[in-house]
Amino acid sequence: MLTNFQLPEDIATLKVVVLTGAGISAESGLKTFRDNNGLWENHAVEAVATPEGFEQKPSLVYRFYNERRQQLLSPEVKPNAAHYALAKLEAKLADNLWIVTQNVDNLHQRAGSNNVLHMHGSLLSARCLQSQKNVETFSNIDGTSRCSCCQPSSKMRPDIVWFGEIPKHMERIESLLMEADLFVSIGTSGTVYPAAGFVNLANHYQVHSVELNLEPSEGVTRFAEKHYGSASRVVDEFVEQLLKGC
Ligand code: OAD
Repeated sequence: MLTNFQLPEDIATLKVVVLTGAGISAESGLKTFRDNNGLWENHAVEAVATPEGFEQKPSLVYRFYNERRQQLLSPEVKPNAAHYALAKLEAKLADNLWIVTQNVDNLHQRAGSNNVLHMHGSLLSARCLQSQKNVETFSNIDGTSRCSCCQPSSKMRPDIVWFGEIPKHMERIESLLMEADLFVSIGTSGTVYPAAGFVNLANHYQVHSVELNLEPSEGVTRFAEKHYGSASRVVDEFVEQLLKGC
C-alpha cells in the first residue's frame, strides 16, 4: 500500500505522526464542520467559536458546547474502526506513534490510544478565565460555574481553542514532525491552519506524507500518497498493511 517508502525491518522503530480531524469521528455519529449539514452550516462560526462571540453572547457559546458534550457522552457515540486501528498501531509502536487531533472529543482515548495531543482543546475540560487552569468536566458549564483554583473563585469557559487563539502543543508537534518517518492526515478538510500546514512541514523535513480521507482535501497536491474512502475502512486497511510490513 505504501508507495515510494521503505518501511524499517522492525516496524516498532517507525516514527509516525497522525493528524486527525472531524472526518474520523463522523461514523461515530459526530457531525463534521464543513460537510453538508455540518456544524458550520447550522451555527455561525463567529458566534460560537471566537473570543468575541463569547464576550457578546456567552449563553449561546456555553449552550453550543454543552450540547456537544452531552452528545459525546450519550451511549450512541462510540469509537469506530478507525479509532481502534490507530490504538492497535500504538500498541505496536508505543511512543513512536503520536496522534495530533483537531477534534475535541475523547474517542481516540476511548479506543485505547494514550499518545494524543488535543491541539484545539477538549469538550471534557473547562478553563478558569483567571488562572487559565483546566479542570475535567462531564457536566454543563454556564455563566454561574466557578473554578476552585482562585480566591475568590472565577468564571469558567469551555476549554476549546477558538479562531484567533493559539492552538495547544505547537512546539511539541513541530518537534515530533521533525523526527517522524511518516505523517498521516486523516479526515480533515485541510482548511484550518496551523494543522493544514503540517503537511508542508512534513515535506520540508522529508517525512513521507499520506492523506486518508473521504475525498481529496484542500491540500491534496502536497501529499505524496493518498487513499480515499470512509475512515473506518481506509484507516483500518492502512494500519493492517503497515503492520504486515507492506
Ligand atoms: P471539516 O468538517 O472541515 O472536514 C472534515 C473532513 O472529513 C472532510 O474533508 C470530509 O470529506 C471528511 N470526512 C467526512 N466523513 C468522513 C468519513 N466517514 N471518513 C473519512 N473522512 C470523512 O473538519 P476538520 O478538518 O476537522 O476548529 O476541521 C478543522 C477545524 O475546523 C476543526 O477542528 C474546528 C473547525 O472550525 C475549531 O473549532 C477551532
